[in-house]
Amino acid sequence: SSIDLGEYRHYMLKEIFEQPKAITATLEGRLAQHQVLSCLSGLNPMAVLAQVEEIQIIACGTSYHAGLIGRHWIETYTDIPCHVEVASEYRYRRQPKRKNLLLITISQSGETADTLAALEKVKQSQACLASLTICNVMESSLTRESDLSLMTMAGPEIGVASTKAFTTQLVALQLLLAALIQAQQGETPVSRQLVADLAQLPQLVQQVLALNPVIETLAERFVEKHHALFLGRGEQYPVALEGALKLKEISYIHAEAYPAGELKHGPLALVDSEMPIIAVAPNTALLEKLKSNLEEVRARGGELYVFACKTANLVPNEQMHVLELPPVPDLLAPIVYTIPLQLLAYHVAILKGTDVDKPRNLAKSVTVE
Ligand code: G6P
Repeated sequence: SSIDLGEYRHYMLKEIFEQPKAITATLEGRLAQHQVLSCLSGLNPMAVLAQVEEIQIIACGTSYHAGLIGRHWIETYTDIPCHVEVASEYRYRRQPKRKNLLLITISQSGETADTLAALEKVKQSQACLASLTICNVMESSLTRESDLSLMTMAGPEIGVASTKAFTTQLVALQLLLAALIQAQQGETPVSRQLVADLAQLPQLVQQVLALNPVIETLAERFVEKHHALFLGRGEQYPVALEGALKLKEISYIHAEAYPAGELKHGPLALVDSEMPIIAVAPNTALLEKLKSNLEEVRARGGELYVFACKTANLVPNEQMHVLELPPVPDLLAPIVYTIPLQLLAYHVAILKGTDVDKPRNLAKSVTVE
């Protein structure tokens, strides 16, 4: 069954390697040649999407990071303003009234107490047009309480540190984005591009998983460290946040993420040879900006590990190690660049001898406040 460990030492590693399959399952039956097909369950999903004028995303932990990337996509490819907030804050804050608001919750388990409470609050105040959940568990509280559901088909996720649930949430957000565009504007070049890109995704993820042995070796350089800094720009900033979260959850190394342009406003003061800096550098519009940020770090004696697109022309040197990834469409980059960061956290944790699948003090699903 899908909850056997099989050839793997840990669920986390198994679940990382299951991602091509989990993504394929999440896309299955949902893509036509140029269109996203119905992927939402609930009453009249396309009629609801057609009316949406604003979006609020609420989630916790890794699912919150998916929401941050979702916002980036929604605001890049539509004119719909999108806000994202962690549920534990949102539920206790006054919300200004918004017109035709779509409330989106994102959750692997569908049982996270803060996320459920935030949804209840919005429903009680009738402050939204409709609620939609992106969720991995069919019969969960969130799917029951929401008007619409978009299921991720990741299968059971056992490792406390979320991996395949995260990448399938990102796939679900892209499906939703395409559906939203189709509902409001009909098929457009962007919605067609989304569909075409998504179809190549499982294959690209498979290719990047082949970096595993290289990353295993790289992990040795992190075992003795006490801190690490993750950098990204644009939609890669939440990817950096997720990389830092994975590392702290399972290796107990203190890790932070920063949008690279913000380095000069604080974290540069921390940079020395004892703090490894990990950057994600796909070949997107912000690449040149990122390169100059990396140079600021190098000039201060920092040691850099850059996951970069083959076409980014980053020249490695003593202080800058470059790990090359295949070129990927912009829309897929956050998903693809997440994979090496998951593997890095896993191998560092293994070398440190922690309980990778059940890190101390953490729970898979937090069903109390
Ligand atoms: C816990 C888990 C995280 C997860 C978060 C949100 O903290 O350890 O891996 O991201 O809950 O869970 P959800 O099920 O709502 O996605």
